[in-house]
Amino acid sequence: MGFDSKFAKNIICIGAGYVGGPTMAAIAAKCPQYKVTVVDINAARIAAWNSDHLPIYEPGLLDVVKQARGRNLFFSTDVAKAIKEAEIIFVSVNTPTKTFGEGAGKAADLQYWEKTARDIVKASEFDKIIVEKSTLPVRTAKAMERILNANDKGIHFEVVSNPEFLAEGTAMADLEKPDRVLIGSQLTEAGLKACESIVEIYANWVPRDRILTTNVWSAELSKLVANAFLAQRISSINSISALCERTEANVYEVARAIGKDSRIGSRFLNASIGFGGSCFKKDILNLVYIAESYGLHEVARYWESVVLMNEYQKRRFVQTMIRVMFNTIAGKRIALFGFAFKADTGDTRESPAIDVTKQLAEERAIVVITDPQAMENARKDLESCISQVEFASDPYAAARGAHAITVMTEWAEYKSLDYRRIYEEMEKPAFIFDGRNILDHEALHKIGFNVFPLGTAAWKHF
Ligand SMILES: NC(=O)c1ccc[n+]([C@@H]2O[C@H](COP(=O)([O-])OP(=O)(O)OC[C@H]3O[C@@H](n4cnc5c(N)ncnc54)[C@H](O)[C@@H]3O)[C@@H](O)[C@H]2O)c1
Repeated sequence: MGFDSKFAKNIICIGAGYVGGPTMAAIAAKCPQYKVTVVDINAARIAAWNSDHLPIYEPGLLDVVKQARGRNLFFSTDVAKAIKEAEIIFVSVNTPTKTFGEGAGKAADLQYWEKTARDIVKASEFDKIIVEKSTLPVRTAKAMERILNANDKGIHFEVVSNPEFLAEGTAMADLEKPDRVLIGSQLTEAGLKACESIVEIYANWVPRDRILTTNVWSAELSKLVANAFLAQRISSINSISALCERTEANVYEVARAIGKDSRIGSRFLNASIGFGGSCFKKDILNLVYIAESYGLHEVARYWESVVLMNEYQKRRFVQTMIRVMFNTIAGKRIALFGFAFKADTGDTRESPAIDVTKQLAEERAIVVITDPQAMENARKDLESCISQVEFASDPYAAARGAHAITVMTEWAEYKSLDYRRIYEEMEKPAFIFDGRNILDHEALHKIGFNVFPLGTAAWKHF
């Protein structure tokens, strides 16, 4: 019983971030018969969604937004009005790691979620389906149902879990053709009916056999487990990269050899400086916390080691830099190629570049940052060491007069720079530390660089 009878369904999403914005834009573009409204308390973010300068960079996103905005896609700060009119409410607010009190450093901070649940209760006048889009600890749906259904208006809220598996940088392609859509619900009549309502939305463009329905706890837990498994592959190959560097084995060759095994598969086997992004670390630590809270300490330690290996890889990378640059980098200019946590996004949350810059600044190096999309975020992230940081939007300018370049983000454009020109303008001996293993190391060595990839022998002139 939507208010706007012109549309078949009235859907809203609370939280206009990296997930809420792109997912709702995709639903609106694919389903012109639904009215989709994205609301947020952050007025600047909503204003940006209503402009041509979207608040996040994601290839293809602007086109999809433009296709639907004003037709059946709306962005607004009027959260209460949107709640009042909606039949289906996706909640995609942030769920960061708790920084205080019980579970600090591991558990998910659910204050934004709970506040949203209370906003929903307050503004609602009829029954609604509440969809958990945020990544949440397993069994959160239970707590949410308690808060939501403890209302004296006689309104029933059915909570379903529909975790999002998009990857930043390829979000629009992932939404267009998801590997799977997962919808978890209570197995009661009302739960299954709510589940079917959400299936119906995705079935407008996702083949039915890719829409998985499960119980609500499996859906919640699967999201945490998916991220834990992905991060674990990165930490696994990174641990082997350290061993390769000591044994003259080559991590590319090892990755290829094991990746050909169809049980292992070849994806996510690139050695690198480590994973970043807002989700992997937070979700694994959350899994660790949940395992601990059930007394499953071995399970907790197992998954915690994935995060510890990631920290080790970043530390090891900086230690190598210092060691090979004659044990001192004080006063040396070091150009960081890339600051985003991965290519094709401006997102820098948990980016390895943050830790690397801070460690280099502690060693009193001068760090020059360049990135095609993430400069604004980098400035905010580096406030604590800003006196030792410079910014240059042009990579050639960033490298001018530098002693070393470190590749932090796998932007395609860094592969095709004129490294001969760059070499000529750098201090000598010139070093390249390839934290993403994307450059042609042999060619760089021929130009004159000392090249330090991850997991293979270095290409040195000394
Ligand atoms: N970023 C990813 O790639 C990704 C992928 C899958 C799942 N997730 C999960 O999705 C969730 C959202 O992540 P994100 O990256 O989009 O976060 P984000 O921080 O970019 O966006 C969250 C938005 O929610 C808004 N918000 C917070 N409280 C609110 C309230 N009470 N009312 C209205 N708006 C409110 C914030 O202002 C913010 O704009 C998290 O749980 C995350 O773990 C993220």
